[in-house]
Amino acid sequence: MTQNPIQLTNSRYRLGYHLMAPAGWINDPNGFCYFKGYYHIFYQYHPYSAEWGPMHWGHARSKDLIHWQTLPTALIPGDSEDKDGCFSGSAIVKDDTLYLIYTGNNYYDDGDPDHYWQNQNLAYSQDGIHFTKYDKNPIIATPPTDNTQNFRDPKVWEHDGHYYVALGSQDQAKLGRLLLYKSDNLKQWQYLGPIAHSQSVEQEGYMWECPDLFHLNGQDILVTSPQGIAAQEHQYLNLHQTGYFVGELDYQAPKFKRGDFHELDQGHDFYAAQTMLTPDGRRVLIGWLNMWESEMPEQVDGWAGALTLPRELIYQNNHLYQMPVAETKSLRQQKLRDEQLMVQSETELVNNQSQVEINLQLDSTKTTAQHFVVQFTDPQTHANVQLEYDFAQQLFTLKRSDRSDARFAQLRPNEKLQVQIFVDTSSLEIFLNQGESTITERYYFDHAPQISLTSDQALAFNCQIYQLEKQSNNYQIN
Ligand code: FRU
Repeated sequence: MTQNPIQLTNSRYRLGYHLMAPAGWINDPNGFCYFKGYYHIFYQYHPYSAEWGPMHWGHARSKDLIHWQTLPTALIPGDSEDKDGCFSGSAIVKDDTLYLIYTGNNYYDDGDPDHYWQNQNLAYSQDGIHFTKYDKNPIIATPPTDNTQNFRDPKVWEHDGHYYVALGSQDQAKLGRLLLYKSDNLKQWQYLGPIAHSQSVEQEGYMWECPDLFHLNGQDILVTSPQGIAAQEHQYLNLHQTGYFVGELDYQAPKFKRGDFHELDQGHDFYAAQTMLTPDGRRVLIGWLNMWESEMPEQVDGWAGALTLPRELIYQNNHLYQMPVAETKSLRQQKLRDEQLMVQSETELVNNQSQVEINLQLDSTKTTAQHFVVQFTDPQTHANVQLEYDFAQQLFTLKRSDRSDARFAQLRPNEKLQVQIFVDTSSLEIFLNQGESTITERYYFDHAPQISLTSDQALAFNCQIYQLEKQSNNYQIN
């Protein structure tokens, strides 16, 4: 049976400057790297429907992290080691060759989707476009004996002339943990042991997906996506979370000594983030701009999912900040506003634009206002998204008329408040106080939003608004 890739039937929700597949389903970013003059990003991809299915690796490259060019699908499942899916993984450059390390997913023949085995595999490319699977796959065939079947999402890096892989896994007691492997050639791997462990399902999860361990400003940081953390009043409200631990990786012990888990983004639609180191030394993160079990109204149009803007990670004041990479400024077109605004009753910010960047700054010591609201409204259906700030609690609350549950971003005490919002046709990425907190959302309006600002007392804002470039990035090299 030959299958045909699914086609787009409607472009109403297609994004203007975020990376998407040409059509079909995508989830996690994979293999984020720099090779021979291009940034490369891959993603979990199902080209044959707008639903998750046997995972391929979709592929795009970019000179500037912002303008992406779609390339041929890099990995197709179906070989004996990845019979039912090429799951998430990462990339590394060695000897002028780009290597991908990914999880093979394989179901047992009993028809039970929860009964599978997972292994780790290698593929390589000289031109960064065409990939060959290593003929002796798998390179890591089985999990350690004290593991469950959950054994996936290898993140590879080099340290002191050796290669290491961190793997997400689950022990027999059904707790998430991180496994460490070592190699000198990317082909033979030695198991070094578990190096970090969930303390309890409620606090740290039953399985750690998509780990990423890196050094930043004197610390080792593990970004991972634990499954099963219990919801609290203002955090951990999605089905699964993406967050980080700060600590120290002792390669000799081996052990990752670390502090508490912190959520990385407060929105409904952010998961499975992965990082890379740019040639000029920045640690840049991209996440999936969706979340398992989120509604995805674009599915009826033949596609689902996108990736976030690339975000530079900055570790300071014991906190991980995320800022849109400097290259994001290249999206700016016309400056639509640059002024001091005195807001009280509802004040229009911008109308009828699907791609805009909004920057607001204010001095919170100079007001008796209790709150303000940035509101996005569909002018015809009146569907809306509200971002409300409560000065007393230093708390942002995001509410959507199409969802009953709100999301929250608690800020540290501050005098100056800064809000940067990247609006795209069906996404909002909100950076608060220089990336101290972020809120990532998909939203679905039938028309370009009316964006307004309201406050309970007169409130002075400094405001800049830019129209952003609308791209059509989906051409292909064969
Ligand atoms: C995370 C994840 C990974 C897995 C992939 C499958 O979203 O579940 O653990 O490799 O998606 O598509």
